[in-house]
Amino acid sequence: MDQIHDIAALRRCVAGWRRAGLKVGLVPTMGNLHEGHLQLVRRARARCDRVVVSVFVNPTQFGPNEDFARYPRTLEQDAARLRQVDADLLFVPAVDAVYPHGIEVLTRVSVPVVTEPLEGEFRPGHFDGVASVVAILLNLVQPDVAVFGQKDYQQLLVVRRMVADLHLPVEIVGEPTQREPDGLALSSRNQYLNAEERSIAPGLHRCLVAVGERLRNGERDFGHLEAEAVKVLKNQGFKPQYLRICGPDLGAPPVSDGEWVVLVAAYLGATRLIDNLLIKI
Ligand code: PAF
Repeated sequence: MDQIHDIAALRRCVAGWRRAGLKVGLVPTMGNLHEGHLQLVRRARARCDRVVVSVFVNPTQFGPNEDFARYPRTLEQDAARLRQVDADLLFVPAVDAVYPHGIEVLTRVSVPVVTEPLEGEFRPGHFDGVASVVAILLNLVQPDVAVFGQKDYQQLLVVRRMVADLHLPVEIVGEPTQREPDGLALSSRNQYLNAEERSIAPGLHRCLVAVGERLRNGERDFGHLEAEAVKVLKNQGFKPQYLRICGPDLGAPPVSDGEWVVLVAAYLGATRLIDNLLIKI
């Protein structure tokens, strides 16, 4: 597996693959790779002849009081893991290579509507940073396929919408969330949890499953379900920011049978966790 920091070298490498008629996949990450990321790479591997993984801790998607500075940077370990799943190229650009004119004057991609609720309410500007950097990464690598985790459900919708609106010639693939045996969704931020918090954390998934069961049993008072679930989380020690039952596009939830997504964000101590569950009847 080659490791490239330089944009011109990346472009040369991918251009060679394209001339040879090879199908190229991209897995954009912020590094600190865990089994969830490796699953994204396996998915790209199954779909493509060559797989590029980018590791870039993107400053424009972190708010001023968020964890950009302390976000875990573990490049050597990441490279070793990527070799095990047969990635072809690890692309690790520097911040000033991605943003040569600086962050303040960056041309930004802003996706309306789908960015507004949920994460958009609690992390203003976050999705502008995500959409902008994903647009840049897609332009740099020019992959045929790009794979994203469904754990960041709203992010996946934002990326799909941006790609559709900008007519970017790439297929976006969503990969189901990987979980610990006790249900906790894999996330780089899980390592911030102390032992007590770690023992409480699977309650988040359990709570989503319980809401799903009640939807399956025919309950449709969404506001009541949400309020009760928030109460349960608070009793367990979480500080929930939102727990919302939506339609799959984050619009109003269907009142008869159909498909719902239940999304949650909650603090456990100083760590912010998000998760979601898709329910189909
Ligand atoms: O999901 C992530 O790790 C990031 O938001 C992404 C898509 C790599 C953009 O920085």
